[in-house]
Amino acid sequence: MDTYKIILEAHSGIAYVALLTIAIAVINSIIGISAKNEFKPKDRRIALFALIATHIQFVFGLILYFVSPNGLAKIKAVGMGGMQAYDRLLALEHPLVNLIAIALITVGWSSHKRADENKKFKKIAVFYALGLILLLSRIPWQTWIG
Ligand code: HEM
Repeated sequence: MDTYKIILEAHSGIAYVALLTIAIAVINSIIGISAKNEFKPKDRRIALFALIATHIQFVFGLILYFVSPNGLAKIKAVGMGGMQAYDRLLALEHPLVNLIAIALITVGWSSHKRADENKKFKKIAVFYALGLILLLSRIPWQTWIG
């Protein structure tokens, strides 16, 4: 297997872990807010696990962008104007929007640390949920599960 295939496999597999752990962190925070729970070490670990999975996914995504024929190579080969909608999703929209999503999740993590005890769940819920929505909006579903 060549480098591209290995990285694609990893990026494709870690995607499940990243999306699932972010979703769990969002649900856990919503439960925490509704039940007015105290923010415990367990809640911190759930949010941290999602952050780490997301950052690992980011690293593989970044490498993929440079080794995949559907990343930067596509833009170089056909130019911005020559791309079909699905080319644009893979080479442009997915990397760019997911980068913003990852930044939002990172901001959520950092700001929960500085937040008052009763605001920690809210920081995680809002920023992680926004990130998750952006991620889900730009997943290349056809090639991933299709
Ligand atoms: C948490 C964030 C991310 C998730 C959940 C995610 C998920 C995915 C999934 C499910 C695929 C389809 C894989 C397949 O066809 O088997 C994919 C493809 C791709 N991703 Fe990501 N991704 C993320 C972040 C990124 C970032 C930040 C970049 C680049 C900077 C990136 C670059 C790419 C590229 C170039 C492809 C197309 C690969 C190809 O088909 O050759 N991804 N991503």
